Amino acid sequence: MNYTVVLPAAGSGKRMKADKNKLLLELFGKPIFLYTLDVFQQDPNCDAIWLAVKEQEQELIEDYVKRYNLTKVQGYATGGVERQDSVRACLEVIPPCGVVLVHDAARPFIDQKVIAQLAETAQQSGAAIAAVPVKDTIKKAENGVITETVDRNQLWMIQTPQAFRYSLILEAARIAHKDGFMGTDEAMLVERLNQPVAIVESTYENIKMTTPDDLIYGKAILESRLQ
Ligand code: CTP
Ligand code: MG
Repeated sequence: MNYTVVLPAAGSGKRMKADKNKLLLELFGKPIFLYTLDVFQQDPNCDAIWLAVKEQEQELIEDYVKRYNLTKVQGYATGGVERQDSVRACLEVIPPCGVVLVHDAARPFIDQKVIAQLAETAQQSGAAIAAVPVKDTIKKAENGVITETVDRNQLWMIQTPQAFRYSLILEAARIAHKDGFMGTDEAMLVERLNQPVAIVESTYENIKMTTPDDLIYGKAILESRLQ
């Protein structure tokens, strides 16, 4: 199933504690966001790539896109204060299409097979998101004392990509904006319209580069792929 991908890249990466947007930090001499872009450039099912970027970083990012010959990049939207604003800005400018994938530019290690399954499932049922089973025991606590152990069998750690029929996610994003609703992922915007969201099992490698230790894991993943 063919799709258009929207990549929010307009954050600042505060938790990474670097002196610039974490996406511009390099792993083995190449900025993180270019690894993410590569995955979609190389995926035959990807028709177009759109990026949400900070106004002051657009020129720099465009230069990289040209230098690395990322021909599928079709355009840019100016990101907003929150990630959800950045995604909506992109959704408002992309040409109408069948399926849209929203994927964090900060997740460079996504598996192409997972992408294919997400696009297929979203086409069939409207919405599908990448997730992995929770590995640890999860408990709730109040004032530092356990109140409940949650049944782990029903728990998933949610990632991106999150895939949707274009018309569904555009409508959901517009309604959330009108209502002043802020979610922590795109699926929440669709869930509140009582639309089903399917889970596609992803890989534990699909980490989001968030804190400095993720740079160590990221390098280890890249090294393991060379072997
Ligand atoms: N993002 C965005 N617009 C924002 C905030 C985030 O496009 N206003 C993007 C980031 O660039 C990243 C993705 O959303 O690719 C996931 O967000 P996150 O990991 O939280 O990145 P940052 O917001 O940059 O990091 P932090 O929260 O640590 O500041
Ligand atoms: Mg953030």
